[in-house]
Amino acid sequence: MQSKPLCPRATIPICSLWLLLACSWAAGGLVGAEPVLSSRFVGAPGCASSSCHGGAGEKRSQWVSWNAADVHRRANTTLSARRSVQIAEAAKLGDPAASPRCTVCHAPFADVPATLRVNALDRTDGVSCETCHGPAEPYLRSHWRPDFTRVDRTLAGLRDLSNLYVRANTCVACHQNVDFDLQLAGHPELIFELDGQTRSEPRHWKEAKDFSGAQAWFVGQAVALREMAWQSGKTDQKAHPNVGRRDLEVGWLVRKAAKAAGFDGEDPDALAKLAAATRWKPAATAAILKALASSAGEFRANPAKSGRPEIRAERLVLALDRLLAASPPETEKKVETELADLFRRAQSRSDFSPADFSAALEKLAAKLD
Ligand code: HEC
Ligand code: HEC
Ligand code: HEC
Repeated sequence: MQSKPLCPRATIPICSLWLLLACSWAAGGLVGAEPVLSSRFVGAPGCASSSCHGGAGEKRSQWVSWNAADVHRRANTTLSARRSVQIAEAAKLGDPAASPRCTVCHAPFADVPATLRVNALDRTDGVSCETCHGPAEPYLRSHWRPDFTRVDRTLAGLRDLSNLYVRANTCVACHQNVDFDLQLAGHPELIFELDGQTRSEPRHWKEAKDFSGAQAWFVGQAVALREMAWQSGKTDQKAHPNVGRRDLEVGWLVRKAAKAAGFDGEDPDALAKLAAATRWKPAATAAILKALASSAGEFRANPAKSGRPEIRAERLVLALDRLLAASPPETEKKVETELADLFRRAQSRSDFSPADFSAALEKLAAKLD
């Protein structure tokens, strides 16, 4: 189950953004492209002209959508909120807006060294175009060319985010592991789920015709597991009994799903790559849904052995939600009430009852049959 982490964020205490980008480049194995460590950032204004991405109409409005509606645009502002000041105080970091421990995810431009910028970068841009799409200098002048194919653009340095493995690696770098001392200081626990999180981001693109939410879900969970397993492996479990070992529960989920979909192996990174490269079939979604819905017995039997059933239940309900959203509408409709009931039962970790949850899951499974 051991795979290399995406990014040595916590071994080198601060993984600055350019390193983070380089890491996911390397992990993404982009069709023949080498990680371009020396590529420079131009900043969001470089993408914003009205004939490029700052104009009207669906095809030209990406900057407008991000600027007006994307929470990433404001990620930097969060660091001035009272809650951030409290977190930083508890973690003894001083001003959160000036601490690389916070800016690495909330204001990535703050950490880009002068040698890697074309222009002065505005840190108030928060999480910006190039944070997800890759530093723009090498592709800025060519990526719009009508004769450029996707492969041409990727080779020029524009990250291929239509590849779900590449996309998952891009998001997971900021959306899964936050160091335990920051969690103890009050930072929310991060839960990465590619399909749901991709949908709640204001969409400034069209998904490909063969896009499958269930596939995005699976690739995202496998990548999240890889990151969690790595974080758990380097954490003193005795010192952090309450936050450790989420990887065991997500490991259970991913293994069950992989088996149902017919993916061989247990290494989460290999599973993510394999699933991303597969032509996903509705039958795979249905098989995973069935396998997960039939797991009621595992909540009832010997709770001590099943680790953290409340966390397992939380992840299971999120999984059912995404798989049902990717299923035919009549299937989703059929178990609407049962799913809502499961959500309610998984909501509070401290009040969680494995027996009640198990009974509710059985009801959902019976309706699906
Ligand atoms: C450089 C770090 C970084 C990257 C890369 C990143 N995010 Fe985020 N994201 C954040 C931060 C920080 C917040 C919290 C913003 C706030 O409220 O201050 C956030 C918030 C969000 C939210 C709203 C809160 C939530 O979890 O529902 C969504 C949705 C989201 N991101 C989706 C994505 C997706 C999808 C990707 C990949 C395509 C992605 N993000 C890539 C840092 C990042
Ligand atoms: C590994 C990336 C990462 C690091 C490091 C990080 N954050 Fe976050 N932070 C996030 C993401 C992602 C979210 C959104 C969580 C969600 O809504 O699911 C978030 C959410 C928050 C929120 C809640 C925002 C809201 O509206 O609910 C606060 C406050 C916050 N972060 C402050 C900080 C502070 C202060 C630091 C430094 C001590 C910090 N963060 C470090 C990624 C990070
Ligand atoms: C949180 C990550 C994130 C940020 C920030 C972000 N994007 Fe995107 N963008 C994506 C993803 C994911 C896709 C889908 C890629 C695909 O399927 O080809 C995408 C797609 C696009 C597309 C392709 C549109 C289409 O329909 O094919 C353009 C153009 C684009 N983004 C421009 C921008 C610009 C300009 C900015 C900044 C103003 C920006 N993006 C910020 C994640 C991001």
